[in-house]
Amino acid sequence: MPTAANHLEQSLAELTAFLGSSTPQAWVTEALKQQDILLIDHAHCEKKAASTAMQLMFRYPEKSTLLTKMSRLAREELIHFDQVLRLMQERGVTYGHLPASRYAAGLHKMVRTHEPVKLMDTLIIGAFVEARSCERFAALIPFLDTELKAFYRSLLKSEARHYQDYLNLALAEATGPKGPGETAFWQRVEAFRGKETELINTPDKQFRFHSGLPTVASGAVDGE
Ligand SMILES: [Fe+2]
Ligand SMILES: [Fe+2]
Repeated sequence: MPTAANHLEQSLAELTAFLGSSTPQAWVTEALKQQDILLIDHAHCEKKAASTAMQLMFRYPEKSTLLTKMSRLAREELIHFDQVLRLMQERGVTYGHLPASRYAAGLHKMVRTHEPVKLMDTLIIGAFVEARSCERFAALIPFLDTELKAFYRSLLKSEARHYQDYLNLALAEATGPKGPGETAFWQRVEAFRGKETELINTPDKQFRFHSGLPTVASGAVDGE
């Protein structure tokens, strides 16, 4: 019987395959140098994830599976938000406004404006954001202090499930009565994968949880 650890390993392997690209080591190096910004932006991401889930609940009140999944997801993201805030307080890191990275806006530009593909595209983006978050937690874990390591490890399981929930909801939308079908769905996933990979692997002046390749100016290149 697979153990919980094996199951998590398998989920991580699946979502890394879905992403199609791994976080560049230069980003990990930069994150270790900018842990305060990492935590502040992480808190923003958790809050934004809860807000996105609630927006979907308001926009699509007739979709019962979506409501159930998004309601649970929003609550979990807010718990994560509380947990990051508490950790920041213990470390003397002040929470406040921080301009968002280019990542989410870059993906949302691709969302089409008519239904049902508007919802399908939005849900596919949800899957990518959750998968990338999970992959980045896993990439950081080996290098973090004991407390942060334990916290990020505790997040892996729920973020991997969030990825799966978004992907399943998107596929259900694609294969529903008015949906474009499964082939069109995977073509769309491929298009988003291309954009996501570009955002993660091209130079980015601003360091954030979902930022791209750190530029030399931000001190990322140190040969690690
Ligand atoms: Fe979360
Ligand atoms: Fe999540």
